Amino acid sequence: MPALIDHLANPRADRTAPLPGVLTAGIRSEAQTAIRDWPGYAPTPLIDLPGLAKRMGVGAAQYKDEAGRFGLGSFKALGGAYAVQRLVRQFGSGTGITFAAATDGNHGRSVAWGAKQADSRAVIYLHAGVSPGREAALRVLGAEIVRVSGNYDDSVRQCARDAAANDWHVVSDTAWDGYRDTPTAVMAGYSLIAAETIEQIGSDRPTHVLVQAGVGGVAAALCAEFRSAFGGAAPRFVVVEPSLAACLLESARQGGRTEVALAGETVMAGLSCGDPSPLAWEILDAGADDFVAVDDAFVPPAMRLLAAGEGGDPPIVAGESGVAGLSALLAAQEQPALWSALGLGRDSRVLLIGTEGATDPEIYNAIVGRTSEDVMAGGKR
Ligand SMILES: Cc1ncc(COP(=O)(O)O)c(C=O)c1O
Repeated sequence: MPALIDHLANPRADRTAPLPGVLTAGIRSEAQTAIRDWPGYAPTPLIDLPGLAKRMGVGAAQYKDEAGRFGLGSFKALGGAYAVQRLVRQFGSGTGITFAAATDGNHGRSVAWGAKQADSRAVIYLHAGVSPGREAALRVLGAEIVRVSGNYDDSVRQCARDAAANDWHVVSDTAWDGYRDTPTAVMAGYSLIAAETIEQIGSDRPTHVLVQAGVGGVAAALCAEFRSAFGGAAPRFVVVEPSLAACLLESARQGGRTEVALAGETVMAGLSCGDPSPLAWEILDAGADDFVAVDDAFVPPAMRLLAAGEGGDPPIVAGESGVAGLSALLAAQEQPALWSALGLGRDSRVLLIGTEGATDPEIYNAIVGRTSEDVMAGGKR
């Protein structure tokens, strides 16, 4: 039985050192400009949750809601599709090109969506634990599906092998030796979440940002954007992982990038990765202030809390991986020593990154007891 919550104050955190130049300002801003130009682009909402803040005993809580991003249900729409667009631009056309990706659902949707728009083919690798609902969403976008036995890390390896044998182009959200450009583009796309948030918060800066991590790409992208906007005065950057897949926390503990064996599949399907992206780790190594690993048990209460709308807050549809930050807060509330170790208190202004909506409607319904449509219509139980 894993501990309900684990915490490591990053011993290598350094706010004075510049972050490594992997995700330069130029690369981030090129991605942000390109995506803002896509048809249907609109910033996702930053939602004030005073009722939740009161319940949690903090000064303010805000939720950046990625559920509506380009109609794909998650922030991942920004990464894979942008990387595909960049490759298509390099090739001159997408016709006749096959893009391949391994995914637990959301990244593959983004790659398949980008490929479809470029008239390209998408072959998407799913590990054994990916739900039928997430597979169905990929098929709707015209993706061909390959099921791989094993876990996410196995599907990444199988995808890379098959792509090399067939002359396909891998669009991965994680990097490896000799493969960095595309995952850098993926992360550059994600940085738009932080750029929008910085515009939306105005002078009300958060004191804490809680960002969930699988391979660490989105956490690293947001860390880079916040640090370049606010320097050493950036909000405390807390990386949240499932206890069953806490590879970044373990890396920080070991003082270097470390792969962990997954003991089982976490309910936070998007975060079920045992091998940190080397690119992400370069940034988070000194850029993250805290690493937290939270048990799955806190996920359903967090989803229901957002759906119900605490104390008059608007209802929010948040999927299993979307509520990692709130799950960590709920868990930390039960451990006063941890609450204070994270520097949380009445003056804290907490920013939660809601990375997905109901990306698997059946799972959402089973956990929350209502459909996402019902939640949005304000129907309370
Ligand atoms: C909803 C959701 N949140 C967070 C993440 C984590 O992103 P990363 O793997 O870049 O750390 C994922 C990854 O698939 C996801 O689907």
